[in-house]
Amino acid sequence: MSESTTSASTSSASSTATSGATAADGDSGGPAAARAASHGERILLDGVTKRYPGQHKAAVDDVTLEIPAGEIVMLVGPSGCGKTTTMKMINRLIEPTGGRILIGDEDVTHKNADDLRRRIGYVIQGAGLFPHYTVGDNIGLVPNLLKWDKSRTRKRVEELLDMVGLDPGQFRDRYPRQLSGGQQQRVGVARALAADPPVLLMDEPFGAVDPITRQRLQDELLRLQEELRKTIVFVTHDFDEAVKLGDRIAILQEGSEVVQYDTPEQILAAPANDFVEGFVGSGAALKQLTLTRVRDVDLHEAAVAKVGGDARSAITKARELGRKWVIVLDEEERPQRWVPVDELEKSGTLGSVTRNLDLEVVNTASTLQDALDQMLTSSHGVVVVTGRRNRYEGVIRVETIMAAMQSMQSAAHRAETVTPTGARS
Ligand SMILES: Nc1ncnc2c1ncn2[C@@H]1O[C@H](COP(=O)(O)OP(=O)(O)O)[C@@H](O)[C@H]1O
Ligand SMILES: [Mg+2]
Repeated sequence: MSESTTSASTSSASSTATSGATAADGDSGGPAAARAASHGERILLDGVTKRYPGQHKAAVDDVTLEIPAGEIVMLVGPSGCGKTTTMKMINRLIEPTGGRILIGDEDVTHKNADDLRRRIGYVIQGAGLFPHYTVGDNIGLVPNLLKWDKSRTRKRVEELLDMVGLDPGQFRDRYPRQLSGGQQQRVGVARALAADPPVLLMDEPFGAVDPITRQRLQDELLRLQEELRKTIVFVTHDFDEAVKLGDRIAILQEGSEVVQYDTPEQILAAPANDFVEGFVGSGAALKQLTLTRVRDVDLHEAAVAKVGGDARSAITKARELGRKWVIVLDEEERPQRWVPVDELEKSGTLGSVTRNLDLEVVNTASTLQDALDQMLTSSHGVVVVTGRRNRYEGVIRVETIMAAMQSMQSAAHRAETVTPTGARS
């Protein structure tokens, strides 16, 4: 996770601190160059408030929060604490009754709401696709509003479907009801990205899909974000999701009070109060696993064989490594299935091999938590890792995960027992 997370723009407002929060690393000073290529824009909420007539308590009460350009900021908090209202004030689906909202350096509090929404992608639970529009027309909605010509919109729709992992030829002309929940959610993300807005608002987007689909969607969002560097505000009530996706997390309490705004590492190591502690839970050590990516650990080698290739070198490799199984890759180096060495010895060369759909695979962007989950259901004691274009990269062994956990636990322990002055408490 990044150290310096400053936005490229210098803040004109003096009080960009976060209510009740310890300022996170590099909030205002870090090297701007590190994120200068960011495609996102900073968002500043300055005392933002929403009061509904006839209600004595505000739905959102005086929220001040700076969301740095190009980062994912997670809003976590109990139901009814004002997360959705806050999001809808950013794109002005709800008019604030107090405070200001800046995007970049521009005060957008009173800007034309339609124009504003074209600069802000919005993704909600269940995707909110129009059922009587095809996938292509759903994604092309904003480009059409912006009166792009047909061929440009069509190209953009194709590019976006590709980007979210859906084959354009197969999906463009379908209707939302002909898609699974996870696929609909992907289309929702594609639609939000259509006009390349600097800001994405995502309100519990993955709340309604099964855990495995959710994990994939999360991984894909992270992969997309590596390229896109949008400013993303993401609401969830799932703390694990917040730790996994967030560059920072804002923990909200009743009445939209921001009780802690910090990096996931800091929140796990030093929860601000009992309320945050409750969120973090007793599984903090395990949750540390969601902070480490597969790409951050050293992978192990496994014996691999390519479809159509000679099996002998794979057999030799397997013997060297003391393994009885070989991973078979297709022509594009994508893992297909595990094959026992005995079987290879009989065949000599590898004919076509069908992909075993249950093959446990994680991506380099997956977390060690995901890797552990996969490993626990795998009969091989290792999990296969793929990188770009699902190409084989190596395997992770359980020892790697144990070692990572141990070093994180001792790091967290040091953080707990050392006071800010460095003295042991
Ligand atoms: N249209 C409305 N009229 C009155 N009160 C509302 C309205 N919408 C939301 N609220 C209240 O505002 C508070 C925050 O709601 P919301 O932002 O939806 O919470 P969250 O998304 O965190 O669950 C809640 O107490 C809710 O009852
Ligand atoms: Mg909500």
